[in-house]
Amino acid sequence: MNDSRSRDIEPAPDSDLLSQLEPDLLPKHLAVIMDGNGRWAELRGLPRIAGHQEGIKSVRELISLSLELGIKVLTIYAFSQENWNRPAQEITALMGLLEHYLSTERSSLVEKGVRFQTIGRVTALPPSALQWVRTTEQETAHLDKLILNVALSYGGRAELVDAAKELARAVQSGRLSPDQIDEQAMQRALYTHNLPDPDLLIRTSGETRISNFLLWQLAYTELYFTPTLWPDFRRRETLVALIEYQRRERRFGRVLSSVSS
Ligand code: FPP
Repeated sequence: MNDSRSRDIEPAPDSDLLSQLEPDLLPKHLAVIMDGNGRWAELRGLPRIAGHQEGIKSVRELISLSLELGIKVLTIYAFSQENWNRPAQEITALMGLLEHYLSTERSSLVEKGVRFQTIGRVTALPPSALQWVRTTEQETAHLDKLILNVALSYGGRAELVDAAKELARAVQSGRLSPDQIDEQAMQRALYTHNLPDPDLLIRTSGETRISNFLLWQLAYTELYFTPTLWPDFRRRETLVALIEYQRRERRFGRVLSSVSS
C-alpha cells in the first residue's frame, strides 16, 4: 500500500504493534469520541442504527484491550446533550441499545472487574434506561480494574455550569469562601471529580473538533484524529493510536527537562 495513511497501519501484525508499546508510557485515561456510526451504515445502505450496533462491537474490543494493557480509565462519548435533537426514532433506538448493552453485558463487566460509571445529566434519560444505568453503577461500584466512564446526555459547557452552581451553593451555605475557589475546587466540582484528566483523546471519522466534550479536562490532553469510522475502529487501529501517542513529548507548558514522568 502506498498512501501515507495505510503505510502506518498495514505492515505490522498485532503482535508487532503490541511489542512497540512501552507499558510505562501508556495513557492512564483514554477518552474517545466515537463518531461515524451513521456514515458507516449509510455507506452500506443500512439504517443508521445498524452503525450504532456495529459500534458497540468496537466498544467491546476497546474495553478488552484497555483491560489487557492496564489502562485504568476509559471515557466514551455515547450520547451528547446535542444528540437529543436527533429524530425521535434514532433516540429511541439508541436508548434501546444502551439498555440492551447493560442488561446483557452487566455480568461480563462484573467478571472482568470493570466499574461502570456515567457523566452527564443522566436523569434526562428515559426511566427504564436510567434504571439500567443505576443498577449497573451499583453492581460494579466496588470494582477497580478499569473504570468505564460513559458520557450520557453529556455537554462540557453544561458540566461547567453545574460545577459553578455547586460552588455557588457551597459559598451560599458558608462551606466555602470565594477566595477558596481555585483549580482544585473546580476539579472537585466536576462530574469527573474521581478521575485523572485524559492523557489521550481519540476522535474517529475525520472530524477534527472537540464538540463540547470534557472542555476543562482536555487542557493538556494529546489529541488523535483518524478518518476511520467508529465501527471500523478496532484493536489494530487503537494500537496504532497508542504508538503515535507514545511518540509525542508531553511538556504541559514546561521545558522537557523539568517534566517528571
Ligand atoms: C456518533 O456517530 C455516535 C453516536 C452519537 C452514538 C455512539 C453510541 C454507540 C457506539 C453505542 C452506544 C454505546 C454504549 C456504551 C451502549 P454518528 O451517528 O454521529 O455518525 P455520523 O456522524 O456518521 O452520522
